[in-house]
Amino acid sequence: MTVKTVNVAIIGGGLMGREVAAALQRWPALIDHPVRPQLTAVCDINEAAMDWFDQIDSVTTKVTEYHALLSDSSIDVIYVAVRHDLHESIYRDVIAAGKGLLAEKPFGIDESAAKSILAAVEEYPDSFVRCSSEMPFFPGAQMALNYVLSGAIGTIIEARSSFLHSSDLDRTKPLGWKRQNQFCGEAGVLNDLGMHTWHVPLRLGWVPEQVFGLFQNIVPERPGPDGSLMECDTWENVVLHSWARHDGVPFPLTTETKRIAPGEKNTWVFEAVGMDGGVRFSTKNPKSVEVFGVIDVPGQGREQAWQQVDSGSQSVWPTVTGPIFEFGFSDSILQMWAAYLAEREGLLGDRFGCVTPQEAAETHRIYREARESAASRLGPIG
Ligand SMILES: NC(=O)c1ccc[n+]([C@@H]2O[C@H](COP(=O)([O-])OP(=O)(O)OC[C@H]3O[C@@H](n4cnc5c(N)ncnc54)[C@H](O)[C@@H]3O)[C@@H](O)[C@H]2O)c1
Repeated sequence: MTVKTVNVAIIGGGLMGREVAAALQRWPALIDHPVRPQLTAVCDINEAAMDWFDQIDSVTTKVTEYHALLSDSSIDVIYVAVRHDLHESIYRDVIAAGKGLLAEKPFGIDESAAKSILAAVEEYPDSFVRCSSEMPFFPGAQMALNYVLSGAIGTIIEARSSFLHSSDLDRTKPLGWKRQNQFCGEAGVLNDLGMHTWHVPLRLGWVPEQVFGLFQNIVPERPGPDGSLMECDTWENVVLHSWARHDGVPFPLTTETKRIAPGEKNTWVFEAVGMDGGVRFSTKNPKSVEVFGVIDVPGQGREQAWQQVDSGSQSVWPTVTGPIFEFGFSDSILQMWAAYLAEREGLLGDRFGCVTPQEAAETHRIYREARESAASRLGPIG
């Protein structure tokens, strides 16, 4: 098999820039992938942030101004992991330069920015663009998705998709850019965590109607750079209620995005139940998928039962990892990249792919309607 080398650059060498750089070093774990990415360049306005990349031999270019990467004809694909207020201009520039773009969520700070990025995608079709959302690449999430697609659920009753963090329970956690509207966006935690909750529902065709949002700002002040308290104006927890349709049947679809869900560390949950079956998966128990059905219990007869299935290690793209072994966050990043680069070559087939620009823009429509609902109907209690 011919394996094509694709040169990758990263803009933003912070938390996610490093996570992706590390994941790409594990590429040989993938079996028969048509592409071999090579991380050759990194850009960060903070020179010191790029020191970490010195341990990756293939990184030969380090710049503090990203336009230098756009004019570098050796670079094929750029992963951008920067603050939300910078997404629109950098994404548009990467797209206009004809580079492939794996963009971080929320794909622009608001709906207007997302539409502007989408317009660039349509104007420059040579740039293959997808948005980051790795959690659905957990094998358990794939099992849950395939269960719903199989039709085993019957007439749907309800579904829930959640993404939960808890470190903001600590009131002394510094303000940071993710906790300021000017950098994170008016949608607050929805901008940070919402894409994780919508990737699978939107891929199932569950386009929410009558969106209603419950927004909470629980900690209104946090320590700023000098330690004194500053306003923390972002929404910390948001529960969205909506109607969606499955096989034409309307059902309640709830998503939860929370920075203050006590005890939860990056917990991604998906649950759908119907009259004939049901499925539940949470990364809290990353091996375990629960399926519902009516079963024969010896000596007892027919009973309703949630049964547990271990999901193993295999996700969208096969790996050398033994199928009984466990899967983790960094594996999901590797799988997301395997999907992105295969799809960019037109070789993903019917496998699950990354969030499309249209899906990403749709999340901002949902967040806007949720905010409007909170403002115009009942509004926050206070
Ligand atoms: N997919 C996920 O699971 C996940 C997790 C965390 C964050 N994110 C997303 O990733 C993005 C970045 O978040 P992070 O946590 O890595 O942030 P971060 O603050 O850790 O890193 C951002 C980096 O960008 C650099 N930077 C700022 N302006 C720049 C510019 N103009 N050019 C080049 N570099 C610049 C900063 O110096 C910093 O090193 C955000 O969109 C965030 O929502 C995704």
